[in-house]
Amino acid sequence: MNSHGINFGSIICTGPGSCNGQNIEGLTNNLETLDPDGSLQDLTEILVVRPFSRKGSFTTSRAFDVSATQFHMGLQPVEEFGYFVDPDGDGVNNELFVGELSAMSLFLEGMEPPEITSPLSDQASAGKETFSAIGCADCHIPSLTTRNRFLPFSFPEVESDPLQNIYRVLNLQNHGFPLAGFGSGVRVDLFSDLKIHDMGPGLAEANGNSRFTTARLWGVSDSAPYMHDSRALTLRDAILFHDGERANAKANFAGLSAAEQSNLLMFLGSLNSPANPNMGL
Ligand code: HEC
Repeated sequence: MNSHGINFGSIICTGPGSCNGQNIEGLTNNLETLDPDGSLQDLTEILVVRPFSRKGSFTTSRAFDVSATQFHMGLQPVEEFGYFVDPDGDGVNNELFVGELSAMSLFLEGMEPPEITSPLSDQASAGKETFSAIGCADCHIPSLTTRNRFLPFSFPEVESDPLQNIYRVLNLQNHGFPLAGFGSGVRVDLFSDLKIHDMGPGLAEANGNSRFTTARLWGVSDSAPYMHDSRALTLRDAILFHDGERANAKANFAGLSAAEQSNLLMFLGSLNSPANPNMGL
């Protein structure tokens, strides 16, 4: 299975309703949707890329927010709990309206993308070459291209079909994303494959999970601390905490000369957050 040039492994189907998903790569952390022998219970649930949250749990920022507003702020969205009910018993109902979450999605997803210092210094340019040469770019893919330039917003959202229930569309070209060549899509310099990788026991959470989505490195010079639990305070430490799949990239970094390491860090230091994130509003 290939999407946007990224390989997500394969599914083997021997007949209607009898498919095996053991060779699917990087798509889901909901492994309970696979039977132990790898047979698939729900294909539509699995064949969805979920870029939001470190563990690849949500397809859109809205889906993330419906969860985050509860866990981080104690706000219970109407679209999850219903109108005029008070499940948390705090004496307040209708804590977050559908329209409020729609407005927040438009605000968040309409922000300008992070910026790359241009032109790159000589050291940063050399570091960019090294970034690809030692295997970082295998996961942190510098650019992906969308199929078209219009980002749909829908409610209710249907994970497996973003074109249902659309209430608004943003033209990403007006939000700082350059058109991709002669196609109708835009280029997104996010430095990720949006795949989930097994990063090994060294990076695991207390519950043993070590599968995380490749962090987008856009804006990374301004987004310390790093890794899913913020264990790395510097970019160098973030690199050295890599383990598991393709740990050779980390080893390659450790084996570089001091000057080459510093060039690579200079390159990462050129990936800045946007100067005017709300310019397109
Ligand atoms: C197997 C795929 C893979 C390869 C190869 C890889 N990374 Fe990563 N990288 C990840 C994942 C997954 C994370 C997020 C880990 C987490 O959330 O704890 C990450 C996180 C990072 C971060 C921290 C970003 C943040 O916001 O937390 C930096 C910096 C980084 N990688 C740089 C590199 C560099 C430089 C290389 C090459 C030496 C490299 N990576 C190679 C998968 C990879």
